Amino acid sequence: MKARVFSGVQPTGQLHIGNYLGALKNWAEIQANYESIFCIVDLHAVTTYQKPEELRTKIRETAALFLAAGIDPDISSIMVQSAVSGHAELAWLLTCVTPLGWLERMTQFKAKAAAQETIGDGILQYPVLMAADILLYQASIVPVGEDQSQHLELTRDLAQRFNSMYGETFVMPATKLPAVGARIMGLDDPTQKMSKSTTGAGHAIGLLDEPKAIQKKIARATTDSNPGVDVENMGPGIANLFTIAQACDTGVTKERVAGMRYGDFKKLVADAVIARLEPIQKRYREVTAEPGYLDTILERGRQHVTPLAEETVRRVKQAMGIYTR
Ligand code: TYM
Repeated sequence: MKARVFSGVQPTGQLHIGNYLGALKNWAEIQANYESIFCIVDLHAVTTYQKPEELRTKIRETAALFLAAGIDPDISSIMVQSAVSGHAELAWLLTCVTPLGWLERMTQFKAKAAAQETIGDGILQYPVLMAADILLYQASIVPVGEDQSQHLELTRDLAQRFNSMYGETFVMPATKLPAVGARIMGLDDPTQKMSKSTTGAGHAIGLLDEPKAIQKKIARATTDSNPGVDVENMGPGIANLFTIAQACDTGVTKERVAGMRYGDFKKLVADAVIARLEPIQKRYREVTAEPGYLDTILERGRQHVTPLAEETVRRVKQAMGIYTR
């Protein structure tokens, strides 16, 4: 039996090259070696208010981008989190074994709590639902960007805690980061992670951005005052652009960019990004043009994973002594 892979994306904001280079690209590359499940996590999205009409649209857009990025629905399951009730059910059961202090320590929780006057309980519970996503399918590999590492550690801690309280139930999942691109930074501020929720025209490159917009954003990206690329001592802005280019095109090496003037270097980076995104955008247009196609894929995904989810929920209930039929 092939090992199982699980990962997810929130259907909020505009998917960007950080999401692609940190996660989706890696998924497409490894999917054939595993039994893979890729999930659109709409229950996570509503931990902060989403306009209902926009969320509905974003869920489909995210599914289309999974396909466009190379997820093959004949190999992998693409599914929506809320379509399988086991996610919410297992999240509750795991909540009951989660020490509150573990959740209050999460850096993403602390950052979000600090930024808002009042904070919903869903933000605190967010990592428990994420643990439920992974443990529900007994996934042993979780390909994500670096910002999810702490949540993955919590998932393992929870699995271990549950196993020691109620007996061996969960597989221990490993975090799989991409070799290059695990943490793409904002173009406008290379000390901040590129993020879907950060607004500002020059912050992120959207997966559906036009070539002209990409050129403009990269041309304006924050760098430093050096005359050209010093490969032994790159400032954060140049290092980030180099990472982006290298992750898009393995032909971009330190030797190739050494000493390049920033203007030329940025052109090379923009070319690499545009070339990488072109087939993705083409495929996106194809999969969204075909009426009913996305629904068929999502329904197939749901049908494939539902029995796996039901089996885990049954085992967990039984282990805890909860009523099962
Ligand atoms: P989300 O939607 O914020 O991001 C989706 C994926 O993109 C990666 N990523 C990045 N990688 C590199 N550089 C960046 N700047 C960057 N920004 C985002 C993320 O690491 C992620 O892999 N909590 C998750 C969704 C989730 C999930 C799960 C993931 C829910 N359940 C179970 C894995 C397993 C999230 O908000 O990702």
